[in-house]
Amino acid sequence: MLRLGSPCFNVVFVLFAVWGMEIRGITKVDYDYIISVLDQWWGGPAGKRADPMFFYEFGDHALMAERDGQLIGFLFGVMVPAPSATGYVHLVGIHPDHRRRSVGKHLYEHFSERCRAAGMKRIKSIASAGHEGPVRFHQSMGFESNEVADYAGPGRSRVVFVKEL
Ligand SMILES: CC(C)(COP(=O)(O)OP(=O)(O)OC[C@H]1O[C@@H](n2cnc3c(N)ncnc32)[C@H](O)[C@@H]1OP(=O)(O)O)[C@@H](O)C(=O)NCCC(=O)NCCS
Repeated sequence: MLRLGSPCFNVVFVLFAVWGMEIRGITKVDYDYIISVLDQWWGGPAGKRADPMFFYEFGDHALMAERDGQLIGFLFGVMVPAPSATGYVHLVGIHPDHRRRSVGKHLYEHFSERCRAAGMKRIKSIASAGHEGPVRFHQSMGFESNEVADYAGPGRSRVVFVKEL
């Protein structure tokens, strides 16, 4: 029975939400759009996190999620060769109206698949401490998470997420 909130309903809802979503590479138009909406998507100043090098130098690793011609999510990452052999997700953001519909999860799955194909051994990401959303998001995908004191300098702890591929 397809009742609101039932497991069956949730599966159908996610399938419907994912249906029609395309994951593709980045263009300059995408980058400019991300810069223009980032503060709004993050609910505060975040523009500096989307450094231009994630388009000009690392654009080959960037992934865009699009539905009906609208950009609804992005992932900026890099791949660090052996011995690190790490795919690093620098920044991921989902349009506020499209959250909890597996968009972030699909972006991570695509990036993980690319990393695995390129010989990476693990995926890593970090988040500021005290934000439950990113922690739960990474844990739901099987990442280990550890809060590390002074990770980003004195008094700047970060939650470090790692998943072996
Ligand atoms: C965090 C973020 C990327 C998650 O993207 P998303 O597309 O909404 O996440 P998904 O739908 O793929 O979530 C997958 C699972 O992660 C968990 N999850 C995701 N967001 C969560 C939240 N805010 N609170 C609790 N759990 C969450 C859930 O288990 C979810 O599965 P469910 O919806 O079936 O319960 C998105 O909320 C976002 O862009 N936030 C603002 C920017 C940000 O914080 N970036 C991450 C910095 S590390």
